[in-house]
Amino acid sequence: MIWQDKVCVITGASSGIGRALAVDLAARKAKVCAAARRADRLVELIEAIGGEGAGHSYVVTDVAKRPDAVALARHVGDTYGRCDVLVNNAGLSREGLFDGAAVADIEFVMKINFFGAVYCTAELLPLLKASAPASVVNVGSVAGRLASGAVSGYCASKFALVGWSESVRLDLAPSGIAVSLVEPGPIPTEGFPQTGLAADPLLRWMLVTDAAAARAIRRTIARRAPERTVPRPWYLARVARVLAPPLYRAAQAQVTEQMALRSPAGPLT
Ligand SMILES: NC(=O)c1ccc[n+]([C@@H]2O[C@H](COP(=O)([O-])OP(=O)(O)OC[C@H]3O[C@@H](n4cnc5c(N)ncnc54)[C@H](OP(=O)(O)O)[C@@H]3O)[C@@H](O)[C@H]2O)c1
Repeated sequence: MIWQDKVCVITGASSGIGRALAVDLAARKAKVCAAARRADRLVELIEAIGGEGAGHSYVVTDVAKRPDAVALARHVGDTYGRCDVLVNNAGLSREGLFDGAAVADIEFVMKINFFGAVYCTAELLPLLKASAPASVVNVGSVAGRLASGAVSGYCASKFALVGWSESVRLDLAPSGIAVSLVEPGPIPTEGFPQTGLAADPLLRWMLVTDAAAARAIRRTIARRAPERTVPRPWYLARVARVLAPPLYRAAQAQVTEQMALRSPAGPLT
């Protein structure tokens, strides 16, 4: 795929996977429009990848707010007049065992991780259609296939993203828009420090870098592929769920234990 001058909108570009993707695509001479809430981080990113002179820009955006998605789309239309790629990457998690008080956290996480992708895709859709062939990538998670304890809102948001992505892929294919889902495994980033895994010499191998996830996203866009797990062996979680449910339950228990280790409050009871 020729990336030069492709207009790529990345949400959650102020750190982690989104930032790594912005750096990766800018190195291929794509024009990056970076969106997130922290303006200082976005300013630093745009300078680091070549500045506005290279065609990059940013919009301070809270994807949980639909008017912010409207403003993002207006900026992309006014600045570039087109949108070749939208990466719905913005996301976070809230940890804790489910109880009545968790409802507000679940609403909060759903609003960002799921509705944020819905809002941004909806508002950028006219530009994406006019720019077809175009791509939308939703950054899910292995937690959208393999639920663990103490992160019910996060798992719900990523499971929802799977169903929505697969359905919308069918809806938008006739318009020349490929909708893809990239599902990373654990990656140490600001919002997901993975301290439990990083501290465990037997499990540390599971960690991959944000740059590796960025590469997987870029390749998924280039191939217009429906789905990609990164690293690939996490695909086995889906297979195990169908073919070996006891193995799947064992993996759930293991992941839950790791979640407990990384909890700031210590092991969850
Ligand atoms: N790291 C992992 O282990 C892992 C594994 C599977 C999936 N993922 C997924 O990968 C994506 C990126 O996460 P990451 O690991 O790169 O974490 P990260 O470094 O914490 O980055 C999260 C990004 O999302 C942005 N964000 C959060 N809430 C937002 C909002 N309301 N509006 C706009 N932007 C918002 C943050 O920017 P601001 O705070 O500046 O808004 C930040 O740029 C997420 O969807 C996450 O669920 C991560």
